[in-house]
Amino acid sequence: MAVRCLITAGPTREYFDPVRFISNPSSGRMGYALAAAARDAGWTVDLVSGPVSLPEPAGVMLYPVVTAEEMMRQADALFGPCDVLLMCAAVSDWRPALRQPSKLKKDGRGLTVELEPVPDILAALAARRRAGQVLVGFAAETEDVEANARLKLDRKGVDLVAANSVAGPDGAFGSDTNALILLGRDGYRLGIGPASKAEVARCLVAEVATLLAAR
Ligand code: CTP
Repeated sequence: MAVRCLITAGPTREYFDPVRFISNPSSGRMGYALAAAARDAGWTVDLVSGPVSLPEPAGVMLYPVVTAEEMMRQADALFGPCDVLLMCAAVSDWRPALRQPSKLKKDGRGLTVELEPVPDILAALAARRRAGQVLVGFAAETEDVEANARLKLDRKGVDLVAANSVAGPDGAFGSDTNALILLGRDGYRLGIGPASKAEVARCLVAEVATLLAAR
């Protein structure tokens, strides 16, 4: 069966002037490992990526974006025909309400930047999903990893949530290795790793393939 897979990866950046932004430490490695694993499984892969310092993976279509708004538009355009969505990006949850057109000058005083929420990309895509699609969200948690992640199954309207800890120096951000707890409907639970992100990605793609075949 031909499978088309949409993957988001990396952080987003939200600028408040031309040279300053808020973001997070996501390296994009987990999303890029998923893209390679999905490609190796024979799937057609669209990879929507925030700014990362990783080589372009061979054999996938790469769509670079910067902000959550751009990621939203690009993912929205690619979502319709996809069979699998792996929403691995670490989307910035807030963005500056104002983006100054020129560099802000210091004046020796503090700076207050008002932030507004960005749209929830995954929830918006899930709201218009079609039958047969498999949607996987990721949950980046610093505490009560499993309980918090399980709440996201319903909140985001997805089939699986891959929960990982981003707390402390052993957290997933920037690391070569990862450990995931994959959570699904009816109490489904599978621990993957700790292992290299490449190995974790292979296991996750295999689980999604099983779910897809059962549909
Ligand atoms: N996500 C998204 N759009 C956002 C924020 C998150 O699509 N604006 C996606 C992430 O890519 C991930 C899932 O939602 O697949 C969960 O992200 P996470 O950061 O763990 O949770 P949040 O929804 O941001 O909730 P909270 O920060 O309160 O844990």
